[in-house]
Amino acid sequence: MTFRSFCLICHQLIFSTMSAAQLLLLLMVMASSALPRHLPPCQVVQMDVVCSDLSLRSAPTDLPPGVQMLDLSRNQVQNLTQETLAYRSDFHHLNLHSNRIHFIQPDLFREMSDLRVLDLSKNYLNVFALSKINIGSLTAVESLDLSSNGLYTGMSDFFLADSPVLTNLSLNSNSITKIAQNAFGGTPSLRKINLHNNIILEIEDGAFDSLYNLTELDLSKNSVTCITDFNLYNLKMLNLSKNSVELFQSSSPDRRFNLLQLDLSENKMLSFPSLPRANVLKYLDVSHNLLQSVNVSGSPETGTEICLYFLQYLDMSFNHLKTIPESFFYFMKSLKVLNVSNNCISSFSVTGRGLLSSVKVINLSYNSLQSLTFREDALQSLEKLYLQGNDLTTLDHQIFQRLPSMMYLDLQQNNLQICGSKENHYESSLTRQNQVDPSGCVSFTSVPNLQFLYFSENNLQTLPENAFANTPLKSLDLSLNPGLEIHKDALSGLERSLVQLILRENNMSRLNTDLSLIRSLKHVDLSTNQLNSLPPWNKESSIESLNLQNNNLVTLEYSTMVALEHSLKTLYMGSNPLSCCSNLGFLRMVQRSAVVVPDIETVTCVHKDFSKPVNIEKLTDEMCQESVYVIIFCVLAVIVALAVLGLLLKCCLSRKRKRNRGYTA
Ligand SMILES: *[C@@H]1O[C@H](CO)[C@@H](O)[C@H](O)[C@H]1NC(C)=O
Ligand SMILES: *[C@@H]1O[C@H](CO)[C@@H](O)[C@H](O)[C@H]1NC(C)=O
Ligand SMILES: *[C@@H]1O[C@H](CO)[C@@H](O)[C@H](O)[C@H]1NC(C)=O
Ligand SMILES: *[C@@H]1O[C@H](CO)[C@@H](O)[C@H](O)[C@H]1NC(C)=O
Ligand SMILES: *[C@@H]1O[C@H](CO)[C@@H](O)[C@H](O)[C@H]1NC(C)=O
Ligand SMILES: *[C@@H]1O[C@H](CO)[C@@H](O)[C@H](O)[C@H]1NC(C)=O
Ligand SMILES: *[C@@H]1O[C@H](CO)[C@@H](O)[C@H](O)[C@H]1NC(C)=O
Ligand SMILES: *[C@@H]1O[C@H](CO)[C@@H](O)[C@H](O)[C@H]1NC(C)=O
Repeated sequence: MTFRSFCLICHQLIFSTMSAAQLLLLLMVMASSALPRHLPPCQVVQMDVVCSDLSLRSAPTDLPPGVQMLDLSRNQVQNLTQETLAYRSDFHHLNLHSNRIHFIQPDLFREMSDLRVLDLSKNYLNVFALSKINIGSLTAVESLDLSSNGLYTGMSDFFLADSPVLTNLSLNSNSITKIAQNAFGGTPSLRKINLHNNIILEIEDGAFDSLYNLTELDLSKNSVTCITDFNLYNLKMLNLSKNSVELFQSSSPDRRFNLLQLDLSENKMLSFPSLPRANVLKYLDVSHNLLQSVNVSGSPETGTEICLYFLQYLDMSFNHLKTIPESFFYFMKSLKVLNVSNNCISSFSVTGRGLLSSVKVINLSYNSLQSLTFREDALQSLEKLYLQGNDLTTLDHQIFQRLPSMMYLDLQQNNLQICGSKENHYESSLTRQNQVDPSGCVSFTSVPNLQFLYFSENNLQTLPENAFANTPLKSLDLSLNPGLEIHKDALSGLERSLVQLILRENNMSRLNTDLSLIRSLKHVDLSTNQLNSLPPWNKESSIESLNLQNNNLVTLEYSTMVALEHSLKTLYMGSNPLSCCSNLGFLRMVQRSAVVVPDIETVTCVHKDFSKPVNIEKLTDEMCQESVYVIIFCVLAVIVALAVLGLLLKCCLSRKRKRNRGYTA
């Protein structure tokens, strides 16, 4: 029936009285029911068909011709057969992640000569493996994902027996306990194997030997205890993180190996891994282990020390190191990042010529450092130095002047004092050489590149004048030093550089420093102190955020607030004993300007008529005017009373006079 004759018949026989709109509706319903019912709403983008999450048991039968990628992930496919794939074999990429596949038709993939990527992750392939049927050749597959299939030892054999061009294999999150010698016999082209999150206890000798092109091996999160004979010379990246490795030794110390990255973090290593002398290792992570010392087998004299010439990143944090001999670093000419934080190191020194000359970051935080010594010309590239959480009380007072590239210095949680600047700069530069200042302070003047300095929790008593002269500080944190006295000229020299100043929790009752001189200052944190007045600010200020929370502020100078108004964007001021009626001007300013007060809920003021502090949002002009009326009323009442009194007096007197007159009369 053609469309036209259908209409005609309908029109003539049945629907002759129907309105045009009703007819249109009917037509639409008919047209939609005419579409094939079984075609689900897959998305078709060029040659890719995405039918994810549609409760399908098989691929739609009417796939467009030439489909390259079919995504059937998160469906209900159980039997993977030619039928479930709609008898198509020209896919390049097949995604069957998260189905219920427990059967694969043998040799299904043999004819699929374009299939390069096959994702079978999160299915029930362990059930299939129990049937001991081989899936046959994966003729063209380069990347195979078998992760999360409950596979245990030996089961992968049924999938891998004939995979001549397979390069990437994932067996992630299965239950494999042993890698047998012949496990990868059918996969000679493998470059990358992911075995993360299994229970591998044993790797048989030679298991990876036939894989000449293997470059990446991820064995993280397994139960490997010992690598005594490491001989994968072509491997570039080995991840053994989260195992129980106690010992790592390469087989022949003289053969060159190509490993670039070795991750041994979160293991039980007692000694530094023994690596072949000829290596190109760039990245070594031995954090979270049980290292007590870095006993690098031998000494410079015997010449058997390890040579990590190419090492750029070394993480030994979270171990039990007490000391690191300088000789350990002799050959680390390329080291850029050294992390030895969270150990028990009490003394760290770099006194050898040109030692660690490429290092940019040293993380020595959370040790028990008491002494730190740097030679004049060492560490010339050091940009960031983390020393927080140590026991530093004295340092060579010019130690930081010797680090010309240092930009970032974290000294939180130590016990250091800061020196003032000598008037005579010439003299101080003469007395530079390795001299411990008798006053036991450390100097921050003329540190050529220092921009970020964190100095909280040091029991810092005073910040003397010119403490940072000739140092281009941008950010300074001096918080949690209760009782800190800041000299009024302490920050001079920072007028054009300082952007952030943090003086939190210092129990300060006043701030003598004129912060308005620091034109560049944008962020100031004065919270949790005892301030009862604000330092004056003038119109030149460029403060954008100001934190005044938790102080003793009763009134805020209206003039100060007017000066801040043009730049201020954020103001914190909760938990202050503000007086309601003396801050009306300020409150109006907050209301009409663009300043955001994030803690407005906690900004309250004290009003004599209310027993509890009033939230400033609830404060109205009338609440304060009321008292004005009362005053006016009182004054008027007094005037009236006086007038009445005067009148009475006058009256009395005149009557008396009258009476007197009467007597006389
Ligand atoms: C899957 O295939 C097997 C063997 O061909 C058959 O016995 C079974 O009934 C099939 N199951 C489904 C759900 O099609
Ligand atoms: C194999 O893994 C590498 C590295 O992750 C990746 O670049 C490459 O595209 C993968 N190859 C295939 C065919 O998926
Ligand atoms: C190893 O890689 C090289 C270079 O890519 C290639 O020519 C060779 O065929 C590969 N070997 C195997 C066994 O796949
Ligand atoms: C090693 O594997 C862990 C996962 O267990 C991962 O977090 C880490 O980044 C990997 N290491 C490298 C160097 O890729
Ligand atoms: C360091 O190595 C030497 C010789 O290799 C050995 O005698 C010494 O006991 C080792 N020290 C530690 C703390 O392991
Ligand atoms: C320093 O190392 C510790 C522990 O390894 C780490 O938690 C911290 O983030 C590191 N610091 C920086 C700034 O990288
Ligand atoms: C060690 O410190 C480096 C640099 O500070 C950091 O990148 C790394 O994450 C730290 N390691 C750990 C385990 O936190
Ligand atoms: C804070 O300073 C006051 C005096 O201004 C003093 O009584 C108090 O003990 C100080 N508190 C702390 C924690 O230092």
